[in-house]
Amino acid sequence: MSVELTTREDCAVLTLNRPEALNALSVAVLRQIGETIDAVANSKARALIITGAGNKAFCAGADIKEFRHQAMMECKARTELGQATFAKLDSLPIASIAVINGYAFGGGLELALACTFRLALPHAKVGQPEIKLGTIPGYGGTQRLPRLIGEARALELILTGRTVDAAEAERIGLVNRIVDGDAVDAGLAFAREFTCYSLPVLAFARGAVQRALDLPIHAGLQVEADLSTLSFQTKDADEGAAAFVEKRKARFVDA
Ligand code: CAA
Repeated sequence: MSVELTTREDCAVLTLNRPEALNALSVAVLRQIGETIDAVANSKARALIITGAGNKAFCAGADIKEFRHQAMMECKARTELGQATFAKLDSLPIASIAVINGYAFGGGLELALACTFRLALPHAKVGQPEIKLGTIPGYGGTQRLPRLIGEARALELILTGRTVDAAEAERIGLVNRIVDGDAVDAGLAFAREFTCYSLPVLAFARGAVQRALDLPIHAGLQVEADLSTLSFQTKDADEGAAAFVEKRKARFVDA
C-alpha cells in the first residue's frame, strides 16, 4: 500500500509510503488517502498526523508522469478527486497535523494546507511550483494558501513557483512551528497539547474558526455564539468549571 495507517498513543498516523517517487500523489494514492481519512473518522483517534515515508519528502505533489498524458476530462476528474479528498480533512471530526519532513511541493503542500496544523522539520522545503510546469495549483492551493498567508504572499509563491525553506515558512505563518527529531514523535508531542481536552468542544472551536474566513463578521459571531452556547451544554463544561473551583485537573469525558 502507498498509504499506511497506524496508531501511536491515541493518534492515527497516515504515512504516504511511495518514497521511490518522493511520495507523489497518483490517482490511486489519492483514493487511498480518502479511504484512510474515512477510516480515521470512524476510529477513536483524537488527532490525525500525516507525514511522508523516508526523510527526503513529505510529498512531491501530483504524479507528473501519470498526469502528463491525461485528456481534459480525465484531468478535471483527477483535480476534483484531489480537492474532494483533501476536503475530507475539513469535515474530519478531529484535528489533523501535517509533519513536513522534506519536500512538500504542489499537491503535497496542498495536502499540508488542508490539515489543521503544519509542522516542519528544519530541512523542509515547500512551494507551489506548478507555474514551472505550465499549470496552476489544482488541489486547493489557490484557495487555502491566501487564506493562510494572505493574498500578496500567496500570489508571490504561486506566480514565481519559488521554494520556501522551513525558517521562512514559519516566519510567514505557512507552518505553525519548526520541530526537530522524528516526524511522528514531533507530531505526537504537538497533538498532546490539545488531545487532553474535550473532543466535542475541540470540534466546536475548529468549526467556529473554520467558518470565520467564509462569513461576514456578524454571521461569524452568530456561529460563535451558537457553538459557545452548545459547548456550555456539555458535561465537560460542567467538569471544567468544577475542576477550576475545586483546584484540581479536569477529567473530561468527551460528552
Ligand atoms: N511526480 C512523479 N514523480 C516524481 C515527482 C512527481 N511530482 N517528484 C519526484 N518524482 C520522482 C522522480 O521522477 C524520480 O523518479 P526516477 O528516479 O524514476 O526518475 C524520483 O521521484 C526522485 O526524484 P528526483 O530524482 O527528481 O529527486 P531530486 O532530489 O533530484 O529532486 C525534487 C527532488 C526537487 C522534489 C524534484 O523531484 C521535483 O522537482 N519534483 C517535482 C515537484 C513538482 O513540480 N511538484 C508539483 C507537481 S504538479 C501538482 O502537484 C499540481 C497540483 O496542484 C495537484
